[in-house]
Amino acid sequence: MKKVITDVSVSGKKVLMRADFNVPLNEKRNITDDSRIVAALPTIKYVLDNGGKLILMSHLGRPKGEVKTEFNLTPVADRLSTLLKMNVQKMDDCVGEHVEETVDHMKAGDVVLLENLRFHKEEKENDPAFAKQLASFGDIFIEDAFGTCHRAHASTVGVTEYLPSAAGFLVRKEIEYFEKVTKDPERPFALMLGGAKVADKIPVIKNMLGKIDFLLIGGAMAYTFLKSRFKGVGASRVEENMTKTAEKIFELASINNVGVFLPKDHVVARTIKETAKRKVVKEHIPDGWIGLDIGPATIQSFKSVLAESKTIVWNGPMGLFEMKPFATGTRELAKYIAKLDATTVIGGGDTAAAIYQMGLGKRMSHISTGGGASLEYLEGIELPGIAALDDK
Ligand code: 3PG
Repeated sequence: MKKVITDVSVSGKKVLMRADFNVPLNEKRNITDDSRIVAALPTIKYVLDNGGKLILMSHLGRPKGEVKTEFNLTPVADRLSTLLKMNVQKMDDCVGEHVEETVDHMKAGDVVLLENLRFHKEEKENDPAFAKQLASFGDIFIEDAFGTCHRAHASTVGVTEYLPSAAGFLVRKEIEYFEKVTKDPERPFALMLGGAKVADKIPVIKNMLGKIDFLLIGGAMAYTFLKSRFKGVGASRVEENMTKTAEKIFELASINNVGVFLPKDHVVARTIKETAKRKVVKEHIPDGWIGLDIGPATIQSFKSVLAESKTIVWNGPMGLFEMKPFATGTRELAKYIAKLDATTVIGGGDTAAAIYQMGLGKRMSHISTGGGASLEYLEGIELPGIAALDDK
């Protein structure tokens, strides 16, 4: 068991907190989804309400170790100031004399946000000297960046060498749900996977096969599985080099007594355009047509499997949901799952975005803030950012 923030004292302390404020921005640099910032608020407020001085740090995007204004954290500081109804001072750098002086003059209840950690290549390299500089700003380190816990960087792992550490409330909640579904899930347990890349999901399937009862596969990855079963997939996206792996998954599923459910009908079009003429086809997709969403019969069959399940983990949309005509599968299943009396855990990234867009955020047991991190958890990998924290 890892220490959590309530196991340590924050009163009067400089609390160095890693958050994942890697949020999507539009061309005008407006935040289009602030759920990761909102998810960090309980820990932030706890520190402030308990007399701590809060030094926040995060990355944004992948600026590759260079200062690039389009990756600065100004929009995040603005949004935080609005949400907290107070001034959140953003530094021009994440290390250096100016940060040192500012931190030295902080009072209880103040918040400072360091500039994008990835403006320094030492962050991703987990450089010890850089980690030590970051650590010098705090008396204690709080890890609340679940979305970045799969990265062994200076601000996630490096700093723990120099400071006592504990998990924030967000990381605690993520651990709670992922431990439950990976170690002690209530059965029957359905794992529903979609999205584009088969390779990303294979380690998850392999790790989870011994724990689940049903595996439902939709989204573009389904076409590779269908092809391995000799179904016509037309011009759909198929990862030819993964068809053998898909076959192996069917074998492993049968050994583990897991029912595998693939799409039995499809919404297809000849081009990937919102305005493209589309139709529903059964079983085989004809030549020249691209599968872009699961069809109505599949939605029905997936619903009946989900209705029987006591635990549902979902990662990856069922179709090209960014385009409205191909969003029905994802939307229908999201609405359905929201009504079920089951533990529902949604992986981060696209699936979480779809659920929030539909206003169903509060109707799921847990929506992870981690894309890659949640997948690695389901793969059974110990996340370095969590492993590095102090034990209770
Ligand atoms: C994410 O968005 O998944 C996290 O913020 C990690 O970002 P990264 O993949 O660039 O390390």
